[in-house]
Amino acid sequence: MASICTSSFIYAFMLVILNLLSNFALQATSSPRHLSSVASNSTKRRHRYVEPSCCRHISVNIGGARGFVSVQAAVDSVPENNTERVIIHISAGYYIEKVVVPASKPYITFQGDGRDTTVIEWHDRASDRGPNGQQLRTYRTASVSVFADYFSARNISFKNTAPAPLPGMEGWQAAAFRISGDKAYFLGCGFYGAQDTLCDDAGRHYFKHCYIEGSIDFIFGNGRSMYKECEIHSIATRFGSIAAQDRNWPEEKTGFAFLNCRVTGTGPVYVGRALGHYSRIVYSYTYFGDLVAHGGWDDWDHTAGTNKTVFFGVYKCWGPGAEAVKGGSWARELDYKSAHPFLAKSFVNGRHWIAPSDA
Ligand SMILES: *[C@@H]1O[C@H](CO)[C@@H](O)[C@H](O)[C@H]1NC(C)=O
Ligand SMILES: *[C@@H]1O[C@H](CO)[C@@H](O)[C@H](O)[C@H]1NC(C)=O
Ligand SMILES: *[C@@H]1O[C@H](CO)[C@@H](O)[C@H](O)[C@H]1NC(C)=O
Ligand SMILES: *[C@@H]1O[C@H](CO)[C@@H](O)[C@H](O)[C@H]1NC(C)=O
Repeated sequence: MASICTSSFIYAFMLVILNLLSNFALQATSSPRHLSSVASNSTKRRHRYVEPSCCRHISVNIGGARGFVSVQAAVDSVPENNTERVIIHISAGYYIEKVVVPASKPYITFQGDGRDTTVIEWHDRASDRGPNGQQLRTYRTASVSVFADYFSARNISFKNTAPAPLPGMEGWQAAAFRISGDKAYFLGCGFYGAQDTLCDDAGRHYFKHCYIEGSIDFIFGNGRSMYKECEIHSIATRFGSIAAQDRNWPEEKTGFAFLNCRVTGTGPVYVGRALGHYSRIVYSYTYFGDLVAHGGWDDWDHTAGTNKTVFFGVYKCWGPGAEAVKGGSWARELDYKSAHPFLAKSFVNGRHWIAPSDA
């Protein structure tokens, strides 16, 4: 009897404590300002990089010798709301499938055997119809779509193999990859498509040593992203454009920062277009081949004043196309002070989610 009484007393006591804690947690999330004076030091601590607990390993092998035969099956096997990093090793091969990583599955890594040997590809176009009979439209054409936070991919390529549109054809947008989750990291990846290749939709992203190929607006969306030491390759045959950034309000922190990249291939291309009225695109220390269109940048047919609200800049760029990028009144050659925010991983708050050796 006595022990039952004691344990139910302890149980009741724990419930009270739990209630107190959860009330406190609710207050903390609903009114963060209330805690901000206390939080300043712990905020600093949070900014330091913390390696997530590591790791569960899963393999995908198209030969089927061992593990899953499709990437989607491997993703499906990850439990919802996982808190541990799950590394999905994808053996060399062409995986012809459409893959979705849902928002409920964070901390997934796609580890390929090499950008030239492990490839996930599909072939949807914007005018194709989805299961509900509606047209897919651009964002839903991606061969691989990631809605989860803390996704990463290494040494793997993503392709959309729909053929390039002929001039004037509508509805041929065909994305290879869409990233809509926050804090995503890409190393040594390839992105291949004919039009609208990489949908850099939303969240903070870091691309390093990647290769991105396309013809029209082939890096687009409202992400806040850094592209470091990447090759941006145009396959435009008549006219093309590289980055179309969709920032729409002056308060938004989104934008595309290209750092130490190489812009190669065929043109002429605009290097940036104002998809949103407050579009932000900066190229720093970047090489431009001889493919940049006269004027360099484009306003996406917005009327009045967009050329005063966009932030298009270049800083210490070089190569035969570098002069054209500075052309017109759209883009400015930045000084160090205004280029500075676009030159380091702090642009994407990298200090607390990118390992120092990965930056
Ligand atoms: C924050 O940290 C600094 C030194 O790291 C210390 O001097 C200061 O008292 C701390 N402030 C609070 C509110 O804990
Ligand atoms: C995962 O978390 C979400 C949101 O908190 C919740 O609605 C869902 O039921 C959870 N799923 C599982 C399997 O625990
Ligand atoms: C990725 O591939 C490169 C070159 O093929 C290789 O040097 C590197 O070790 C690979 N990295 C990972 C994480 O697989
Ligand atoms: C900028 O917009 C104004 C109208 O708001 C227009 O007169 C001017 O020509 C534009 N400049 C460029 C470079 O497009």
